[in-house]
Amino acid sequence: MDYTPLRISTVKPLKSLTFDLYIFFKEQYLCYVKSGDQLTEEKYTKLKVQKVAKFFITESDEINYQNFLDRLLSETLSSSQVTTEEKVQMVEGAATSAVERMQNNPGSESAYRMTETAAKSLRQVIKSNPEALKKIFGKKVEKNEELIKHSLNVCALSVKLAEILKCTEQELDDLGTAALIHDIAIPQMNKNDLPLFNKPRKLLTNDDKRVYYLHTKDAITMLQDKPYVNKAILDLVANHEEVLSGSGPNKKKKLSKLEEILSMVNNYDKRTITNKTTPMQTLKDMMIDEMGNYNLDLLNEFKKVLHSEGLLD
Ligand SMILES: [Fe+2]
Ligand SMILES: [Fe+2]
Repeated sequence: MDYTPLRISTVKPLKSLTFDLYIFFKEQYLCYVKSGDQLTEEKYTKLKVQKVAKFFITESDEINYQNFLDRLLSETLSSSQVTTEEKVQMVEGAATSAVERMQNNPGSESAYRMTETAAKSLRQVIKSNPEALKKIFGKKVEKNEELIKHSLNVCALSVKLAEILKCTEQELDDLGTAALIHDIAIPQMNKNDLPLFNKPRKLLTNDDKRVYYLHTKDAITMLQDKPYVNKAILDLVANHEEVLSGSGPNKKKKLSKLEEILSMVNNYDKRTITNKTTPMQTLKDMMIDEMGNYNLDLLNEFKKVLHSEGLLD
């Protein structure tokens, strides 16, 4: 049987489950809560105490889980009783699970649908909770979670910027989904090439660049024949490393507004990982290094957003 891994933060105790919930314990999958039963407070706490971050469902329960999660997300996000922290945690859990599923199984429509929902939910949390973006960026993650965290960061920040720049709902949805999946091909890279993700862009040799940038093409190979992935999203993913000077892998010199936003925010967040610079320093570096790669107006608008969201302190 195939099991799909999900984050514990996407279930809540005292809710009747519509799917069998498994945990992986002592090298095997155990049914922890059966469909129709509730995850008791006690069982939930036990998982947390034992630092179990993941649970599993079977493939046949994917639809049931998705419906459960959609309901739980809309209930949680619209509730005034739930703290921003809890909302952020749940949305992060959904987005993390979705990106991980897309990395492992890029051809799964169910994983893609989950990604769309997660991107929408992330946008909703940020829009209606002023502290949310800061909470998301304040979290430190383990090294092996860096890539997923990067995807969430880029999603959250690019959508925030695009909203201020008055993009349409459809554009925001496309941008959010594309941001979550833009780097899904990176884990598939040759093991010896993986450290390129953590190498500062300035230090990449031409050979490094040729190898590293293949992840944009590989992602398209994974997604292009899927009828549920629209053209706008494919273009965004394909062009997320492009810059106006034409030095990106596709040598594009003209970018749509959304493409430029995604590329710039990706560049920014990637720098904070590879260069380990503070947000303020990263921004200063970009203002110098990326002149000609992004419109100055856009860089300035980005700076304003980082400032007003309290991300530069
Ligand atoms: Fe990338
Ligand atoms: Fe990226």
